[in-house]
Amino acid sequence: MATAPAAADPTTAREWAEEVRRLARSRDAVILAHNYQRPEIQDVADHTGDSLALSRLAAEVDASTIVFCGVHFMAETAKILAPQKTVLLPELAAGCSLADTITAEDVRAWRAEHPGAVVVAYVNTSAAVKAETDVCCTSSNAADVIRSIPEDREILFLPDQFLGAHVKRVTGRDNIHVWMGECHVHAGIDGHTLRERVAAEPDAELYVHPECGCATSALYLVGSGAVPEDRVKVLSTGGMLSAAEKSSASKVLIATETGMLHQLRAANPATAFEPVNPRAECHYMKMITADKLLATLRDGTGEIRVDDETAARARRSVERMVAIGTPSRGGE
Ligand code: 13P
Ligand code: SF4
Repeated sequence: MATAPAAADPTTAREWAEEVRRLARSRDAVILAHNYQRPEIQDVADHTGDSLALSRLAAEVDASTIVFCGVHFMAETAKILAPQKTVLLPELAAGCSLADTITAEDVRAWRAEHPGAVVVAYVNTSAAVKAETDVCCTSSNAADVIRSIPEDREILFLPDQFLGAHVKRVTGRDNIHVWMGECHVHAGIDGHTLRERVAAEPDAELYVHPECGCATSALYLVGSGAVPEDRVKVLSTGGMLSAAEKSSASKVLIATETGMLHQLRAANPATAFEPVNPRAECHYMKMITADKLLATLRDGTGEIRVDDETAARARRSVERMVAIGTPSRGGE
């Protein structure tokens, strides 16, 4: 029986990957992995991508089972879009600190304070929260989703304050109310850390995920002339990958979860990709280990269930999200 890959033992790693592929075939399963997963999980998956790309794939793939290597809300989103499929998450405790900042009851109470407002939810929310909303978005289509809403309609944007500030900035709308949630990993990539890194690497380009606490500081650095505008990009993880493929920069500083570096370095070995904060690691994402993936494929454990009524209400919001924005690995 293959065991987990050890970096120092390529034979073990190869046997593990072969066993994963064999079990996936026998279970008629497709393996989807988010860009923040461990490198070996990204490499063994059928598809690795950002939240929007993985949602689109979940809705389209033929396989009867989806093994989702990501966090709970992502696997739930896959189940909402593909209710007839079995969706397995190798570790059901893989949650999200951002999704935990808001409940369905919170959304109902907020909506009651703003009758007539359109409720836009970042996909990093539970199925119960999505069921209370009008449309979902991811970091790669958030601005397009906002632009699809008539100018005169008030918007309640939840739950991420930094992504909310970003969409307000890029759409220029002042009738957006933002829930003050945050992801502990991205909030930790703050303005102070960013300014220090930029000062030490004045010639590097900068890719910033809009969930980051430093997104405003990055644009301030541009505004103050400290960094030229064409060297700073605010991007989803899929957008970072598309930009990396085309980049001729010698160095790019990356402000997001460190798992992203694996895809970026593989996409463009000529450019040095370095984290703004090397400690920005999501322990929920890293709960999906080689051993757990193998166990799920072998035993069918970690099945995601969403009750029919919640799923039907959440599906309207998620399907609107999937229909809006450029179909790609996700980049704005
Ligand atoms: P994207 O992959 O959509 O950029 O999302 C990042 C994220 O934080 C997922 O939890
Ligand atoms: Fe949630 Fe943040 Fe982890 Fe993404 S990085 S899954 S937003 S806790």
